[in-house]
Amino acid sequence: MSLAVERGVPAGPEGADPPLLSLRGLSKSFGAVQALSGVDLDIPAGQVSALVGDNGAGKSVMIKTIAGIWSPTSGEIVWDGKPVTVRTPRDADVLGIATMYQDLALCDNLDIVQNMFLGHEELSHRLLDETRMELDAKQTLADLSVTTVQSIRQKVRSLSGGQRQSVAVARAVMRDARLVIMDEPTAALGVSQTAQVLQLIRRLGKRGIAVLIISHNLNDVFAVADRLAVLHLGHLVSSGPISDYDTQSTVELITTGTLSHPERGPAAGNGSEDPKGVLP
Ligand SMILES: Nc1ncnc2c1ncn2[C@@H]1O[C@H](COP(=O)(O)OP(=O)(O)O)[C@@H](O)[C@H]1O
Ligand SMILES: [Mg+2]
Repeated sequence: MSLAVERGVPAGPEGADPPLLSLRGLSKSFGAVQALSGVDLDIPAGQVSALVGDNGAGKSVMIKTIAGIWSPTSGEIVWDGKPVTVRTPRDADVLGIATMYQDLALCDNLDIVQNMFLGHEELSHRLLDETRMELDAKQTLADLSVTTVQSIRQKVRSLSGGQRQSVAVARAVMRDARLVIMDEPTAALGVSQTAQVLQLIRRLGKRGIAVLIISHNLNDVFAVADRLAVLHLGHLVSSGPISDYDTQSTVELITTGTLSHPERGPAAGNGSEDPKGVLP
C-alpha cells in the first residue's frame, strides 16, 4: 500500500535542479524486522524537509542509513546525481552530510571553539592555531546570527539547550556541510529557544544547505518546513511541498498511513486546486 505522492519526474520550477540527495528503493531490515521498505525520497538543496511518523515508523533508521551508521539492505543513495555508498559516518562527512542526534554529541567539558573544531583542529607550525580557530568560530556564529552566546571560550556545559543546538549547527556549517540532518532539534527546548533554533534552521536553508529535520511537533514542522515526508511502518506514504498538507491530513497520514479523503489531500496530485482539502 503506497499513497506515494512523490512526483516521479518533477514538473514545473521544482524540477529545475536535481535534488542533492535521492533515496531510491531504500530498504533496511534487522532480521525479521523490516524497518524501511522501498523508500523513494528527494531532498533538495536550499530547502527544509521535515520527516514525520509515529514511534517505530523508521525515522531514525532512515537518517542513520543516510549518515553511514547502517548499510541499506537494498536500494540506492544518490548524491548530486551519482549513486554513492555511505559505509561509515566518515564517508558521510566527506560527502558533506552532518547529522545531529538528540544528544548532539558535543563535549560538555570543552569550550565552544574546541567543540566546533573537534577532530579538525587548525594547525600553524604544528601548534594549534587558537587565534585562527577563535576568529573562524566567532565569524561562523555571527554569520548565523547566533548572538546569545557570551563568550566562545565558555564551556559547552554552561550553555542552554538552544545554544548547544546552535553550536552543533555552527560546527556543521564550518565543516561545509551540504546536508544537515537534525533528530528532534527542539524536543528539549522552551518556547523562545525553540523559536531561535527554528530561525537558525531557516537560515541554513537560505544559505543553500539542505536541511532534514525529524520532529514530533507539527507546529514546528509547519513553521519551518518547505517539504514534508511521512513514514508509516517503514513505508514512505506521502511526500511533497508543505503547502499540500494541513495538520489534520498530516496526523491522519502519521497514524493510519493513508487518507480517508485522498481527493482532498496531497494525493490529489499536481496542481490540486484545493491542496489543503478545505473545499467542501
Ligand atoms: N538496531 C536495531 N535492531 C533491530 N531493530 C531495530 C534496530 N533499530 C531500529 N529497529 C526497529 O526498526 C523500526 C524503526 O525504528 P526507528 O527508526 O528507531 O523508529 P522511529 O521512527 O521512532 O525513529 C522499529 O520497529 C525498531 O524496533
Ligand atoms: Mg527515532
